Amino acid sequence: MNKTLLIVCLAGSMTLLPISPASAESCTTSTCHPAITGLKNQHSPVKDGDCLACHKQIANAHPAKGNKGFELTAKGAALCAQCHEAMGKKKDVHAPVKEGDCLACHKPHGANNRFLLEVGDDQRELCFSCHDSAAFKEKYLHGPAAVGACTKCHDPHESDEKHLSRIPARERCLRCHADFAKGMNDAKVIHAPVQLNQCYSCHDPHGSALPNMLTKKMPDLCVYCHKKVGEKMVNAKVPHKPLLQVGGCGTCHSAHFANAKGLLAADEMTVCLNCHGKDNLGTPPLKNIKREITSRKYLHGPILKGQCKACHDPHGSNFFRMLRGNYPRELYVPYKEGTYDACIGCHDKNLLRFEETSLYTKFRNGKRNLHYVHVANTRKGRTCRICHEPHASDEMRLINKKGYQFGDWNIPINFEITPTGGRCAPGCHQPIAYDREKPVAGGFAR
Ligand code: HEC
Ligand code: HEC
Ligand code: HEC
Ligand code: HEC
Ligand code: HEC
Ligand code: HEC
Ligand code: HEC
Ligand code: HEC
Ligand code: HEC
Ligand code: HEC
Ligand code: HEC
Ligand code: HEC
Ligand code: HEC
Repeated sequence: MNKTLLIVCLAGSMTLLPISPASAESCTTSTCHPAITGLKNQHSPVKDGDCLACHKQIANAHPAKGNKGFELTAKGAALCAQCHEAMGKKKDVHAPVKEGDCLACHKPHGANNRFLLEVGDDQRELCFSCHDSAAFKEKYLHGPAAVGACTKCHDPHESDEKHLSRIPARERCLRCHADFAKGMNDAKVIHAPVQLNQCYSCHDPHGSALPNMLTKKMPDLCVYCHKKVGEKMVNAKVPHKPLLQVGGCGTCHSAHFANAKGLLAADEMTVCLNCHGKDNLGTPPLKNIKREITSRKYLHGPILKGQCKACHDPHGSNFFRMLRGNYPRELYVPYKEGTYDACIGCHDKNLLRFEETSLYTKFRNGKRNLHYVHVANTRKGRTCRICHEPHASDEMRLINKKGYQFGDWNIPINFEITPTGGRCAPGCHQPIAYDREKPVAGGFAR
């Protein structure tokens, strides 16, 4: 039988105790239900004595043991929807709300705290009555989560955002982290996941075992997305130390935003020279590159443009000195395809290929290619470093002025350039000259 009908039948056959809103005091006397009016924050209709907004008398025997004299005017959420706007229209509805279980959180008559809740600003007890509290016991907790300000971020009822977020999560983060937001607005480069709605791809909004509530330790956090850099970091034959040290990726990059390209703290060269401007970096110590290039008369093209990464891969490589291509570590290695890729990535390889040329290099006596003579020589192919500096020099054509270290002696070049050729008095052979227009006989001429 229909329930409403039943009530109507009952009502027809019995006399109901006339309980009107005005007589609410009759329900909440000192002996009957005193607790209800004793509550600090009473629900508005309770305060108004409108007990019947929610209770309907169905039997006149009240009070009577074991006999339910009242039933609710509606079930579940419908009871509340008599006065409050119905919920459940948004994309994501909190499970207990969907089930109409408003009373899982609210006390219908009133409570000691606002919003008909047993809990105050610290909502943990309420939320943890259903949710696992493990994530909130990590070593590093987020301030607002640690003090149970859950609904600062979450809507307890429903939301069009994921995870019941009140507003898009990123915006939520930035409203509290206003300094951060300002810094970001002023920055030239913003990291893609920071720009998108993904602060929590790196941070757990509640807490984690890692400082700054990071979701993974460094550098795993970064290489999770940057797989190629990660592979290089681990597999490179010549790795770059700072990637493997404590600060990891963070020694050079900001995780969020920066004013320099590549999320660097400063322009690329400054970043490199921060470390490579020291005398005792590495074992055995590496050259102090800052000194190698400051106040030099001639800077190599890429250096002039402030680029180190044009030749070196900052994340490590398979080649000597982290170069982007092959470059022999040894002093004598004859040119053949592939041996000097670090240079011929930019320079024409024909510089080294032909015994005779009138085109590919100025280092020739008549047509005789002196690069070929020196470098392609199969018995003793001299590496570029015997004559050239890679970064900068006080000598034209980046000629190595002080000479390359040969055991405990520096091989001097004593180079002089002329409009059509040049002359050297190297530690390798007798002084010798070359001229492109009037080949020097007895010198490099044939
Ligand atoms: C907004 C709706 C609402 C109003 C108004 C309301 N009640 Fe209730 N009341 C409920 C609900 C819902 C329950 C059932 C609680 C449960 O099942 O946990 C209830 C339960 C009760 C109970 C039985 C359990 C208990 O908490 O002791 C009594 C008695 C009661 N109400 C008395 C009153 C009186 C008296 C008033 C008026 C002063 C009143 N109610 C006003 C919703 C209301
Ligand atoms: C008879 C009408 C009526 C019913 C039924 C009703 N409410 Fe209310 N409720 C009100 C009014 C009126 C207010 C006060 C609104 C205001 O202050 O703006 C209120 C306020 C509230 C508040 C805020 C209290 C605070 O401290 O600010 C909550 C939470 C609430 N109701 C929950 C419920 C729930 C849950 C139900 C169902 C169990 C329910 N209400 C049923 C009329 C009702
Ligand atoms: C999971 C717990 C939970 C459930 C379930 C829940 N609420 Fe709430 N509700 C809260 C909390 C917490 C607040 C306090 C306001 C805040 O922090 O956002 C609140 C506030 C309210 C308010 C007053 C402020 C506002 O947002 O308008 C009303 C009215 C309300 N709830 C009604 C309901 C109704 C109706 C239902 C059932 C359909 C319901 N609530 C179910 C936790 C809950
Ligand atoms: C009566 C039990 C209950 C209470 C109390 C409760 N929740 Fe939930 N909540 C659930 C259930 C059930 C789910 C769904 C879980 C699931 O899908 O795995 C859920 C899901 C959620 C979700 C995930 C929603 C999503 O789409 O991913 C959030 C966020 C959440 N609750 C926050 C809260 C907060 C904050 C509180 C305290 C104010 C709270 N809950 C209190 C039962 C509860
Ligand atoms: C600073 C904002 C913020 C605070 C404070 C916060 N949360 Fe969350 N919460 C989030 C965000 C963002 C997500 C989604 C995270 C994700 O997808 O990795 C989330 C996810 C959740 C989820 C669903 C996914 C899960 O981890 O199971 C639950 C449940 C939840 N929060 C409960 C709570 C409770 C309970 C509190 C208070 C003790 C709380 N949150 C405090 C922002 C917050
Ligand atoms: C309700 C305000 C509020 C919201 C919303 C908020 N935070 Fe916070 N957050 C704080 C406070 C307060 C601190 C502690 C600040 C301090 O110690 O100086 C903090 C600290 C942090 C820290 C540093 C933690 C540490 O160990 O020092 C990170 C990272 C962080 N928040 C990320 C986020 C992210 C990501 C979001 C969005 C999902 C977010 N916050 C949303 C208030 C907020
Ligand atoms: C790619 C990963 C990543 C993303 C995405 C990310 N963070 Fe961070 N965040 C970090 C790392 C790593 C740290 C710790 C050291 C540092 O500052 O670089 C950190 C530290 C923080 C700190 C504490 C230190 C400080 O700078 O005040 C706050 C606050 C913070 N993040 C907020 C955010 C907010 C807000 C977002 C989203 C707009 C966000 N983060 C997105 C990786 C990330
Ligand atoms: C959630 C995935 C994700 C995580 C985690 C992540 N990144 Fe990124 N990162 C991206 C995307 C997407 C881009 C933009 C596309 C690209 O260049 O690959 C990017 C770009 C970059 C760039 C180039 C920026 C530019 O403007 O040239 C650098 C540098 C970078 N990330 C460093 C890091 C570092 C350091 C970390 C760890 C703190 C990290 N990333 C973690 C996704 C991620
Ligand atoms: C020694 C400094 C240094 C360290 C440490 C470092 N990087 Fe870089 N990274 C650079 C430089 C320099 C660039 C080139 C920036 C530009 O000009 O675009 C770069 C570029 C990138 C780029 C842009 C695309 C690419 O591959 O060139 C990504 C992504 C990146 N780094 C991720 C990482 C990750 C992940 C780590 C940690 C595993 C890391 N970096 C560690 C210096 C460094
Ligand atoms: C945080 C300090 C730091 C920064 C920044 C840095 N380096 Fe290094 N670099 C080192 C250390 C330490 C070594 C290793 C010394 C060793 O292994 O003995 C090294 C080694 C090298 C080597 C030699 C590799 C080998 O094993 O032969 C080159 C080349 C190099 N770095 C280039 C660069 C370039 C280019 C940049 C800028 C993109 C840069 N470095 C930024 C610290 C740094
Ligand atoms: C045109 C290519 C090129 C550019 C640009 C370049 N390098 Fe080099 N770098 C080399 C070559 C080639 C070597 C190997 C020199 C040798 O051993 O003969 C080298 C060697 C090094 C070494 C190891 C020095 C040693 O102790 O032998 C460091 C450190 C270094 N470079 C850092 C840098 C930094 C920092 C920058 C940017 C300021 C930079 N390089 C720019 C080509 C380049
Ligand atoms: C025996 C000394 C010597 C060796 C070894 C040497 N060079 Fe040269 N190189 C010179 C001289 C001298 C010049 C200047 C020619 C002139 O302008 O008169 C020069 C000029 C150049 C030039 C400027 C363009 C041109 O050819 O006129 C480039 C580029 C160059 N060399 C690259 C290399 C490379 C790459 C290597 C190693 C594969 C190398 N050199 C090895 C002596 C040498
Ligand atoms: C990233 C590109 C690049 C790489 C790699 C490169 N160079 Fe250069 N090089 C240049 C540019 C640009 C110039 C100046 C413009 C020009 O003369 O072509 C230059 C000029 C030179 C000059 C002539 C300087 C002058 O005063 O005229 C020599 C010598 C030279 N490079 C040698 C080398 C050697 C040796 C290598 C390998 C260790 C090398 N380069 C690798 C880009 C590069």
